[in-house]
Amino acid sequence: MTAAGYTVLGPEIVKQLHDPRRDFAYDVLVGLSERPKRLSSKYFYDDAGSAYFRRIMALPEYYPTACEEAILTRHADAIVAPALGAPLNLVDLGAGDGKKTMIVLDALRRAGADFVYVPIDISEGAMRELVAKVRASMPDVRVEGLVAEYTDGVHHLARAAGARANLVLFLGSNIGNFGRVAANAFLRRLWSALRPRDHVLVGFDLKKDIEVLLAAYNDRAGVTAAFNLNLLHRINRELGGDFDVSRFRHFGTYNVFSGAMESYLVSLEPQLVSIAALELSFAFDAWEPLHTEYSYKYLRSDIARLAAGTGFAIELELEDERGWFLDSLWRVRPTIEAPEPER
Ligand code: AVI
Repeated sequence: MTAAGYTVLGPEIVKQLHDPRRDFAYDVLVGLSERPKRLSSKYFYDDAGSAYFRRIMALPEYYPTACEEAILTRHADAIVAPALGAPLNLVDLGAGDGKKTMIVLDALRRAGADFVYVPIDISEGAMRELVAKVRASMPDVRVEGLVAEYTDGVHHLARAAGARANLVLFLGSNIGNFGRVAANAFLRRLWSALRPRDHVLVGFDLKKDIEVLLAAYNDRAGVTAAFNLNLLHRINRELGGDFDVSRFRHFGTYNVFSGAMESYLVSLEPQLVSIAALELSFAFDAWEPLHTEYSYKYLRSDIARLAAGTGFAIELELEDERGWFLDSLWRVRPTIEAPEPER
């Protein structure tokens, strides 16, 4: 304590307070104490979960990845064109394996752009692999990855690299895992870190035939089910849980009213689950649901409203042939328009 009677916690201490295992334990405690029970989909992505997600992206039923790859392959030159002419950061939010980004990187190289590739990902393992992959396949590309949460990464970049314009990629319908309010808040924070010469490319999964949606999140090989159930395995591994995973089933359903695919784990019988790290047990009734994920689907009008309400002007809208997925290229506006009141 200082003579002033208070202590300002420095960044090092703040970092120590954010222990990932403790944050996970806290979120499990809060989520399993709620009714209905819930856990955040951000905890899907440990090493095993990330490997399942790579398998999901290759499934015949999971169309978003193939649709977006087709859009990028066909339109990469048009996507990078507005950003050319000045030194550039190509910022990749939640880069994952970077497969789709490679298409954009190629377009920038073809155009002879002066750019730095800045993938931002929370997982250090994923970042290590991605940087190695880009260095091996495109040795001429300068890569400066950031291991950070999206928004922290973008704010850091905005402060550190004033001279370069930014083209920010937010692909794969990752925006869909935010609720409507959180999506607005996230995009406004992104807007506040950017300047009017900057651009953002956002991948949206569009509303479509409900059977197509249900098949994509309930694949026949059971990979999505394993991806969802891995959350319980992860609690067992990291927090000393004793979930008997065979006594839960994956359930993916579409809520027409909210426009979201919703994923649940449903308890097949009454059971008590202990979690050593919490020194607590949680009771599940037979058929009690545990909510694990939202994947919001968009109308074109939703996208227009979202862009306008978060400070962006739409420059290009690019769809795949079936009109199932849309990549929207946005320019940063100097101010945020007041959103229209909800009717
Ligand atoms: C990462 N995210 C956009 C995927 C989605 O479609 O919501 C995660 C996923 N969940 C089930 N299948 C894929």
